[in-house]
Amino acid sequence: MEVRALQFNAHVETDLLCLVAEEGVRDYAWPSAVVGQLMAAQKFAGKLGEKASCVYLPEGAERPLRVVAAGLGKTAELTPETVRRALGAGLKEAERLKVDVLTIMPWNCPGLDAGDAARGVTEAFLLASYRFNRYLADKKECSVRTLQVGYTPDQEVAVIAGIKLGQTLGEATNLARDLVNEPGNVLTPERLAQEAQKAGEKYGFAVEVWEEDRIAELGMEAFLAVGKASTNRPRLIVMRHLGDPAHPDQILGLVGKGITFDSGGLSLKQAKGMEAMKYDMAGAAAVIGAMSALAREQVGVNVVAVVAACENLISGTGYRPGDILGTMAGKTVLVESTDAEGRLTLADAVHYIITRENASVVVDVATLTGAVIVALGNLTTGVLTNDQGLYARLEQAAQKSGEKVWQLPAFPEYKEQNKTAYADLRNVGGREAGTITAGLFIAEFVQDKPWLHLDIAGTAFAEKEGEYLSQGATGVGVRLLYHLAETYV
Ligand code: BES
Ligand code: MN
Ligand code: ZN
Repeated sequence: MEVRALQFNAHVETDLLCLVAEEGVRDYAWPSAVVGQLMAAQKFAGKLGEKASCVYLPEGAERPLRVVAAGLGKTAELTPETVRRALGAGLKEAERLKVDVLTIMPWNCPGLDAGDAARGVTEAFLLASYRFNRYLADKKECSVRTLQVGYTPDQEVAVIAGIKLGQTLGEATNLARDLVNEPGNVLTPERLAQEAQKAGEKYGFAVEVWEEDRIAELGMEAFLAVGKASTNRPRLIVMRHLGDPAHPDQILGLVGKGITFDSGGLSLKQAKGMEAMKYDMAGAAAVIGAMSALAREQVGVNVVAVVAACENLISGTGYRPGDILGTMAGKTVLVESTDAEGRLTLADAVHYIITRENASVVVDVATLTGAVIVALGNLTTGVLTNDQGLYARLEQAAQKSGEKVWQLPAFPEYKEQNKTAYADLRNVGGREAGTITAGLFIAEFVQDKPWLHLDIAGTAFAEKEGEYLSQGATGVGVRLLYHLAETYV
């Protein structure tokens, strides 16, 4: 896949030209005059998601141009996300026509920053043309191999920078998607650690991988309990990008849930849909992707990421309901369900990142609860926090990335549900408010640090293809965490 900037002129070489159109705006100058003509001639109003196509002979040109116009919706509602969606529509038309080179002109919208638009279309192109086809004889690749992003001379610098960042973020997101799409027999904890190391070498961040003996020395009893049944042994993966050496005490800590397969353990999941539980390491993939992008762009922030990677299986060596476990933090936990394993691994990882890596802010990302899917569906990531200022940064990052987030309440009253007579905590908070009680379990380990909890169980995987996402892993969190880190520059 190639993305390049192109100064637009009458003799543009392309197989298909994608023009974007604002709803009801007809008076574009050339080359987008064709948009107005399409609106006049066809039932095309420029609504978001709408598209129309034609063949057009520009004045003075030797050959006709094949054109697709993609609607952006109302001028007042333009965001980089609408541009991504428009590119998605244009790309679908390009695929239908089996073209090789697509050229897009995102720049004729006054309400939109040219750099943001260029980043948006680059990301959308890389995300929409992604296929997880490693195991297919017929690879069914996307026909479009090249995207040209048009610009006017005054936009050159912004567009080139936007393409570069879009490429970094698109590729980092696709790296996360590859990791999530890999099945559990391939992507074991050991392999996940190797993939983190590979990314570290490629993009320039440090990676340390710890095996069981070190993990046990640290006292991570809860983490180790979850992995006890599997012959695929646990790994603790630590990644560091220290981009702001002048402020060594400001460290953003990212913790990703890394269950490479979640059978539920003795509290076994039902068979139907269990195959999807290979994606229970999507939080880990998100932090690996984000670290890759932050290092590649040399963002001036200190970021450390930790993944407690293991597999939740069944065997005679596994942990059981009723077990009481210690944690690295010293709190004891009664296991009421071996299927509420994520919070056990996250508790130790969060305590580790604060006490051993000196994280001053903690963000955990996890496919933690089915309940978040009931609450928010597959569209929106559920969030808990103890710091509204930090949440405001996340909303800013969500705006930039196009990822949707929504805050759930973290009232202390809910903590009652995590209590038991037999240990300091229990790992199940009951059926009600399941996403909140799971988040508040983790809150017990964040001490006084500003903290965000992102439950991506609903957003990490898409059963159907979307406007600019092919089916399967979405890579959710990668771009969100990147832009969140950027707010600290
Ligand atoms: N990995 C699952 C959560 C999940 C469910 C992710 C569906 C994606 C889709 C998690 O480990 C889990 O099993 N959670 C339980 C918690 C319960 C036992 C308190 C759940 O949500 O049912
Ligand atoms: Mn589980
Ligand atoms: Zn799980």
